[in-house]
Amino acid sequence: MIRTIGVLTSGGDAPGMNAAVRAVTRAAISNGIVVKAIYRGYKGLIDGEVKTFSTQDVSGIIPHGGTILKSARCEEFRTIEGRQQAYETIQRENIDALIVIGGDGTFTGGRMLSQEFHVPVIGIPGTIDNDLWGTDATIGYDTALNTIMRCVDTLRDTATSHERVFLVEVMGRDAGFLTLNAAIASGAEAAIIPERATIMEQIEEAIGQGRRKSKNSSIVLVQEHAIEGGAQAVAKLIAQAHPEYSPRVTILGHLQRGGSPTAFDRILASRMGVAAVQALMDDQQNIMVGLHEDEIQYVPLSKAIQIKKDVKEDKWGALKVLSI
Ligand code: F6P
Repeated sequence: MIRTIGVLTSGGDAPGMNAAVRAVTRAAISNGIVVKAIYRGYKGLIDGEVKTFSTQDVSGIIPHGGTILKSARCEEFRTIEGRQQAYETIQRENIDALIVIGGDGTFTGGRMLSQEFHVPVIGIPGTIDNDLWGTDATIGYDTALNTIMRCVDTLRDTATSHERVFLVEVMGRDAGFLTLNAAIASGAEAAIIPERATIMEQIEEAIGQGRRKSKNSSIVLVQEHAIEGGAQAVAKLIAQAHPEYSPRVTILGHLQRGGSPTAFDRILASRMGVAAVQALMDDQQNIMVGLHEDEIQYVPLSKAIQIKKDVKEDKWGALKVLSI
């Protein structure tokens, strides 16, 4: 029986993580379960940075981006010694199960802890990258997508005035979901993503098509790791082939991770937080809470991490058709 749960956020923060922490805390307390908040992700678990939360500790946090629990990328947790120390904190604090909010690195860590020390772990997907299998959306993705779209809309004004080519670098680690969807939403001329090979001729064609149209400007979204050197490298190639295009580069960077979560992310995080606590009460473990066709589903953590989610072919096709 689960009496005490630990909750942490880890890896890159994502808007909506606070809503998830709030939901976990309130769902647990309303079911008589004690909540121990762990600060700074796995680093805090190793260092014993733990505080018992009341419902008031999560008051007023739903509109805020970032995470009140702080986040960290923890090298020490990659070692068995680090995980042993983390387990000692779990024992000392009488934590029966962990709810970890983050991306694939967070889930990989949680899985190792559960395999080595038999701690039940539930994952809540919180990452702007939306790169986890078993869920249509991850917490923070929708907010980041809207942030990128607004930035590209703003850039379009100056791109049009100067009849320039803009290369906009978008985050996503190994995944192109943010880039492709933001490109469709902002009416960009092209997207360069890791999931689809894009050769220079295609980019030149897209830019050329854009310049032949009345708008006379082109915006190409470049996923940060789709090509070595990112948007700067693409700009260099374009400038060499077509100096008259005067390409400019905008790297959106960590702007994409901030901001107040959208209604979609707040609702998603709230549902997933409640579902994570329910899963523990139902004796489930080593699963991720996902969303599919607006229904909560539970998938094994191993699958969420290992199976690659592909971008939708129709979206790739739509971008091409709509940018002519
Ligand atoms: O996973 C989220 C993410 O923002 C990725 O899109 C990006 O590649 C990475 O984190 C950046 O990490 P950091 O903030 O540690 O530089």
